[in-house]
Amino acid sequence: MPKLSDLLVPAPLRKTPKPGEAGMPKTPAPQDLKENPPERPSDLGRFGEQALEAPVEAVAWIDQRMAASGFLTGMLFRKVPKGTNWFYTLGSATLFAFIVQAVTGVFLAMFYTPSTTQAYSSIAHINNDVFLGQFVHGMHKWGASVMVILVFLHMGRTFFFGAYKYPRELNWVIGVVLLILTMTMAFTGYLLPFDQRSYWASIVGININGTGPIVGPYLSDFLRAGPELGATTLSRFYAIHMLLVPGAIIALIGAHLYLVVKLGTTAPPWTKTGKPRVAEPTTNLDAGVATNGFSPNGAGSTVAGVQVDGHNGGGAPA
Ligand code: HEM
Repeated sequence: MPKLSDLLVPAPLRKTPKPGEAGMPKTPAPQDLKENPPERPSDLGRFGEQALEAPVEAVAWIDQRMAASGFLTGMLFRKVPKGTNWFYTLGSATLFAFIVQAVTGVFLAMFYTPSTTQAYSSIAHINNDVFLGQFVHGMHKWGASVMVILVFLHMGRTFFFGAYKYPRELNWVIGVVLLILTMTMAFTGYLLPFDQRSYWASIVGININGTGPIVGPYLSDFLRAGPELGATTLSRFYAIHMLLVPGAIIALIGAHLYLVVKLGTTAPPWTKTGKPRVAEPTTNLDAGVATNGFSPNGAGSTVAGVQVDGHNGGGAPA
């Protein structure tokens, strides 16, 4: 049975093994062929073989056009520092919580009506009549709290492990925006059932926003969408909750993960750092001068006033 990694190489690029090599039978002698002529595969057999190859060929066809396997190999097999532990899974756990919220939210949106007169009854309908409705609604409701808790724990991990420092400041800033957006999701979602608790809690939340400096009153006016909390507030909260903020979160998670892969993971603060690499003086035999073995910019550097090739400590003086 050939290895999967060999199968995943597209047929035109596959190295054909020579007769006698692993996986290939030895070339039979002519008299053997006379005595035992090889069986010709039937049309059905050939069709079966092609059918078995079809999914592999399809993946190879896409990969040749997308060059995705190089990216995926780089991402999935990237090196992680020694000492990483369960705390490093909190970011992925947050991502998982977000995906659960997105999937369950899509199903809830199929039955929910964002109207002041029908919102409450549509949720009651989901809970009482729809197949698995109460389960999906429960996952979404509890999942919101889980995501908020996880995002704070993940932020704590990155803070206490010093992962916000150079060169990851931008990822920290993106993270702060993700945190605000996660809180916005929780806040806007709370109003949607439009029961007594969500109605009054939203009024309190909007008023708290109004106490903020400078932008506070504008923010609360924007959220209330009118002098009183009512139908337009509910429509606005629904649009923010299911269109605006999830879109922004998806885009920012993309940027966040791109930076995680690009910059690598921060080593735990208690792991020992290696000795800093110090340039060792070496002797340039050609020029007879001491040269600098390597330079920070990889190009030539000057030692004893002589320009030398920085790559191997040798090279002709300029
Ligand atoms: C929706 C919210 C978020 C998601 C889905 C998310 C996801 C992730 C994932 C999967 C990783 C890589 C694995 C890990 O180190 O845990 C990561 C790393 C990181 N995250 Fe987040 N994150 C979110 C929010 C935040 C927040 C709120 C902050 C901080 C304010 C933050 C800052 C960082 C930093 C600095 C790293 C790099 C860690 C390192 O180099 O060790 N993230 N994030």
